[in-house]
Amino acid sequence: MRTLIKNGTIASASDTFLGDLLIEGEKVSLVGVGLEKLVGNVDRTIDATGKYVLPGGIDPHTHMDMPFGGTTSADDFESGTRCAAFGGTTCIVDFAIQPQGGSLKQGMEDWHRKAEGKACSDYAFHMIMRDVNKSSLLEMDQLVKHEGITSFKLFTAYPGVFYVDDASIFRAMQKTGENGGLICMHAENGPVIDVLIEQAVGRGEIAPKYHALTRPPRLEAEATHRVIALAEVAKVPVYIVHLSAKEALQQVREARDRGVSAIAETCSQYLFLSYDNYEEPGFDGAKYVMSPPLRPKGNELDLWKGLQLDDLALVSTDHCPFCLKEKQLGKDNFSKIPNGAPGVEMRMSLLWDGGVRTGKIDVNRFVQITSTAPAKMFGLYPKKGSLAPGSDADVVVFDPNREIKWSAKTHHTKADYNPYEGRTTKGGPSHVFSRGNLIVEGEKWLGSKGAGKFVKRNARRV
Ligand code: URP
Ligand code: ZN
Ligand code: ZN
Repeated sequence: MRTLIKNGTIASASDTFLGDLLIEGEKVSLVGVGLEKLVGNVDRTIDATGKYVLPGGIDPHTHMDMPFGGTTSADDFESGTRCAAFGGTTCIVDFAIQPQGGSLKQGMEDWHRKAEGKACSDYAFHMIMRDVNKSSLLEMDQLVKHEGITSFKLFTAYPGVFYVDDASIFRAMQKTGENGGLICMHAENGPVIDVLIEQAVGRGEIAPKYHALTRPPRLEAEATHRVIALAEVAKVPVYIVHLSAKEALQQVREARDRGVSAIAETCSQYLFLSYDNYEEPGFDGAKYVMSPPLRPKGNELDLWKGLQLDDLALVSTDHCPFCLKEKQLGKDNFSKIPNGAPGVEMRMSLLWDGGVRTGKIDVNRFVQITSTAPAKMFGLYPKKGSLAPGSDADVVVFDPNREIKWSAKTHHTKADYNPYEGRTTKGGPSHVFSRGNLIVEGEKWLGSKGAGKFVKRNARRV
């Protein structure tokens, strides 16, 4: 199958030009100007006049089919990758989980079972380590060398669930110094947060807003500072996931200014929502219960600055949707509300509308933070995150004039609410290709369950 996308504005993380792109089979085969005259017969031509042609979005932080908080996230790999594709994201890196008392291998096999035959577009895995011991440290080598799982998430939060102590974090970091893996850190001081939660609940402060008030920015900054220091001593890079608070960003900035390899992502919700959402009437604040929590209005200005100056490397979503029925688990105690919210479908449009259209970032930076940086950071590049000949034809034709009014009535995630309900964004995909297959055309779904493949990722060179 040969598809010519003609007359589009082709944008990479560095260049923008008016031109054409030829897809042959699963790969981009040619990019240039005046290709129509050069390439002969094609099976399909898409006129991208007035539109951008971009590498498919990569969301390196999702939780599909994840058991958490006494329930399971609402999107499985089928609905999760489908809603991602509707939003212009063609590859996700999801978090597999080492089962309690089990091995990393078991966690990996569990996640392969969840995804295989279901995913509609390509996917890769990080591994959440809840038990750092002799055997799991050895298993890290296996995952990096043989299984294409080259990053590991550890938590300074959620005592009794995912929390590991500093010595364990340090040992895992040292291991990545040998095998080229990357440690990803959830950085909040979980033990102290648990004290604050206990005290708040003891005072009868049980509403959703107390989720945010018991997780102050300083405790995110403290943990961020600590894990960066541990990585510095272990002489390895560290990647901070879902950075939310300007105080935590300041820790990353200071470390980077000293030449330390501290890398951080933020998520779209920290750029487009705020603490005010917890003050919505009734129990509606529960829709936004996630960790770290949304921060006070104004905080997002620092995050945008971080994105402009590359102290924040990229924007993910931490897509971890729950339905309102599940959120009700915490109706009498905010700490029982399952943590997480939907996001993967909205990310590209939110960032275009709030970032490119407002002039905060240009189209090249947009491509960088939504696709190329995640690909490079997590060993997917140049297979993904690029439109160069030979790359997978994960391509998005992006219409800067397409308006989308976000609503639970029309979105494609299985979550039964949308955190951006009623908001209109300008800019969205008109055509989405996954390895050369047209899977989304406007509102039409053309993809198929099971077409997505697991992508083995490369390690850093050590
Ligand atoms: O609230 C969140 N972030 N839920 C998903 C789990 C995590 O910590 O990323
Ligand atoms: Zn986390
Ligand atoms: Zn997460």
